[in-house]
Amino acid sequence: MEIKKFEVLPRHIGFIMDGNGRWAKNQGLKRGEGHIAGAKVFKKIGEYCADLGIECVTFYAFSTENWSRPQEEVNGLMDLFIEYLIDGDARLEENKERQMKLKFIGEREGLPEELLELIEKAENETKDYNKITVNIALNYGGRAEIVHAANTLVEKGLPITEENLSRAMYTADMPDPDLIIRTGGDFRISNFLLWQSAYSEFVITDTLW
Ligand code: FPP
Repeated sequence: MEIKKFEVLPRHIGFIMDGNGRWAKNQGLKRGEGHIAGAKVFKKIGEYCADLGIECVTFYAFSTENWSRPQEEVNGLMDLFIEYLIDGDARLEENKERQMKLKFIGEREGLPEELLELIEKAENETKDYNKITVNIALNYGGRAEIVHAANTLVEKGLPITEENLSRAMYTADMPDPDLIIRTGGDFRISNFLLWQSAYSEFVITDTLW
């Protein structure tokens, strides 16, 4: 892909990857195939952001509400996350080249054991890469994150202030998103980065992810 040059870039972009189901339906395919195509787009956009020089991107891959989807669709998505990470050495080589640090934000509890192990491995092996941080929001909910952060402060006996809460979020060491892009045409936040998006600009596009 051609890399454009911009004078000013957002430091952090959040992506709500919506419209996979509709895309699949339009092609006469099953919803799961929409997610398979979506995973390819996720990879391409992450690499494009890295090449542009964006510091941080967050992709909304699976919300706490997504567990209520049909079991076949949930399993298909978990398999996609596993497949992406299991690509092992090839993936790590690509990440190294782009200095792409992988981070998973969200509740770990409830994720399949195999996925958990791969997540820890990927985070560990990319932790010192320093060009772009790619956050994958998995089993993530913005309200749950705020509650989690508040509980962390209570446990540590720290006062509940904006600064302390920001530091207790999954994104503690990252800038807040300057820009949130949602595909699929719906004007809503869907429990994504609720705390961090206080000052974000939003772009909603009808294009399906
Ligand atoms: C919403 O579209 C999309 C999801 C619930 C899944 C997003 C996940 C991916 C694109 C895969 C990412 C892959 C990796 C490896 C991180 P929808 O199905 O709700 O679309 P619809 O509104 O058209 O039904």
